[in-house]
Amino acid sequence: MSQAWVRVCATSELLPGESKVVWDGDTPILVLNYDGDYYALEDRCSHEDFELSAGVFDGDEATIECVLHGSKFDVRDGCALNAPAYAPVIKFPVKLEGDAIWTRDDRTSTSRYAPEVAPILK
Ligand code: FES
Repeated sequence: MSQAWVRVCATSELLPGESKVVWDGDTPILVLNYDGDYYALEDRCSHEDFELSAGVFDGDEATIECVLHGSKFDVRDGCALNAPAYAPVIKFPVKLEGDAIWTRDDRTSTSRYAPEVAPILK
């Protein structure tokens, strides 16, 4: 986690339907281009921490499917769309500056989950 932005790449290097992983410290961030808009999610499936980037990004439906057990997530907000994952994947901010894409892990604590998406543990 940090407050400094991490450069992802030039916009010309991440075309619609493509994705790329960058690291902000210890946090892997999956940046995706869905229909010309950029989204950033933690590159960890909320089910068992598997790399989402190993899965299939559907650039038509704005989803990414985890290759391990098949849960799909909406790349626009990180919401889980089907079991076995129920918790959303953490979403990070994206900004464009010049011709470059930037993102960062903006969590303010070392919590695995952002406060607004923390699952209720029983
Ligand atoms: S690790 Fe992703 S669905 Fe199980």
